[in-house]
Amino acid sequence: MNKKQKTAQLLARYKQLFYCPICQESVHVIEATVTCANGHLFDIAKKGYVNFYGKPSPADYDKHLFEARYQVIQSGMYAPLHDKLGSLLQGTHLLDIGCGEGSHLAQITARRQQQTIGIGFDISKAGITTAAKYHPGHIWAVADLADSPFQTKKFDVLLNILSPANYQEFERLLAPNGLVLKVIPRANYLREIREQVLTIEKVSYDNTDTIAHFKERFPETESYSMQYQWEIPEKLADTLWQMTPLTWGKERHCRLSSVTVDLEVLIGKSR
Ligand SMILES: C[S@@+](CC[C@H](N)C(=O)[O-])C[C@H]1O[C@@H](n2cnc3c(N)ncnc32)[C@H](O)[C@@H]1O
Ligand SMILES: [Zn+2]
Repeated sequence: MNKKQKTAQLLARYKQLFYCPICQESVHVIEATVTCANGHLFDIAKKGYVNFYGKPSPADYDKHLFEARYQVIQSGMYAPLHDKLGSLLQGTHLLDIGCGEGSHLAQITARRQQQTIGIGFDISKAGITTAAKYHPGHIWAVADLADSPFQTKKFDVLLNILSPANYQEFERLLAPNGLVLKVIPRANYLREIREQVLTIEKVSYDNTDTIAHFKERFPETESYSMQYQWEIPEKLADTLWQMTPLTWGKERHCRLSSVTVDLEVLIGKSR
């Protein structure tokens, strides 16, 4: 079976988790297309993903950036984060919102014994193409969080890692007793890179407003912070530089031997 057929088979099996992003009707899979009762059609690509986003993706992130993120994440830069998120998983339906090239979802679900279906979506076709290339076995979709193609109250866990949020939509998607796991930078995240490319006022990242906003929507929030230095493998020195848009068009002044990972995990419960 080729990648397209496997993706169609997975989508058919989990079609009850999706709806049409245009008319909100339920969907079914006919050959290599997802379709609703009103005839809206969404292609399953031969690279192994479904496209619910009818427009060209924004160009803020390109395939080189996602390839670099894949290399760096696979090398373990976020392994402590994956351990933490893996320990928090519950239920069987997991949705990664703004999943990029998919390594976080793949690493986190790999830490779980129980059977879990992981769906990752992102507005970037380059991100989803990379995810489908490296992580078969999950469902990958190009889609916009503003018009998401998912049924109401079906997801046990929402992951939202270093990506934009829409809390009204998160509440709609979450199953009763579901969890949102949102990861945001803390003050020293990627400090060594920021010091080389940003003005002094912008080197520290301020997450106060993001946390306050999250707690307004999810009053029962718990949070967990983690900070560590990641030793950069020699062969990934250039790759690390390419994994963030912060550095676009900027020269590296000196080789970095390690980088600070400084993150906050916000754990919100559905009401
Ligand atoms: C900093 S990247 C993080 C990607 C991934 N979670 C990671 O940590 O490697 C932010 C991601 O959010 C995605 N994104 C931005 N706006 C979005 C939207 N409206 N719907 C879905 N994804 C979106 C971008 O395309 C990008 O892949
Ligand atoms: Zn429709």
